[in-house]
Amino acid sequence: MRLSSHVRIVRHMAFPRVEGATPADRMESFYGPTAHLYDAFRENRLLHGRRDLMEMLPLEPGSRLVDLGGGTGNNLEYLAADRRERCARITVVDVSASMLEVARERIHRNRWRNVEAVHANATDYRPSDGPVDVVVFSYALTMMPDWFAAVDHARSLLRPGGTIAVCDFYVSRKHPADGAVRHAAWRRHVWPAWFSHNNVFLSADHLPYLRERFATVRLDERLGRVPYLGARAPFYLFLGTKPDAKTRPET
Ligand SMILES: C[S@@+](CC[C@H](N)C(=O)[O-])C[C@H]1O[C@@H](n2cnc3c(N)ncnc32)[C@H](O)[C@@H]1O
Repeated sequence: MRLSSHVRIVRHMAFPRVEGATPADRMESFYGPTAHLYDAFRENRLLHGRRDLMEMLPLEPGSRLVDLGGGTGNNLEYLAADRRERCARITVVDVSASMLEVARERIHRNRWRNVEAVHANATDYRPSDGPVDVVVFSYALTMMPDWFAAVDHARSLLRPGGTIAVCDFYVSRKHPADGAVRHAAWRRHVWPAWFSHNNVFLSADHLPYLRERFATVRLDERLGRVPYLGARAPFYLFLGTKPDAKTRPET
């Protein structure tokens, strides 16, 4: 990335502009000016664990995958070609038109025939042809004020036994569930304040809610370096399945 792009990104993050009456307006005002620089800055720098998450997805021939808050579609680059091609359909859903424009250029450039980009809110997007096999949230839940509605909606999109895959920043509860990581007090206070300046709202409740709503298949709690700061922020990878309605009633 060129020095001038670094300067633009740092200026954008130091003085973010987030305005508008709807989630779509707010996300567009935030991402619009730098959507074309998004991948170069985030790739391997800030949004850690995305490649690992995509490699963990259980994709079978004919799978239908939805990436909610999928932005520029960058995560699809992390799928091996044969795994991407075996999917019947991959849908990148986002409220930011600028981010989706980059996604559409990517789809066109790569000639991905089974990938589409849809402008919609993660809390109400629904494909017309029934349940899907896999839903992904990659660094998206922390930008969704109604994250609990987005998680519930994702659950309603999945077939029984379908997979939800999430990676995102978070902080632990002061008293996390047995076996879960407990972050020091400074981490639990400093990181939510620091990220909220950029419209990213770290929560101690995302992970417990995911664990409540889905059967945990895999959980990794990690730390990742934050560019320009040198400090490491906590993030997690969560893979869970929607319980079968026979074993647990639908709620
Ligand atoms: C940090 S970016 C992550 C993009 C991508 N998932 C990735 O890992 O690179 C968060 C994305 O979530 C989108 N987003 C935020 N709120 C949304 C909502 N309510 N519905 C759909 N997308 C949303 C933003 O527009 C943005 O593209």
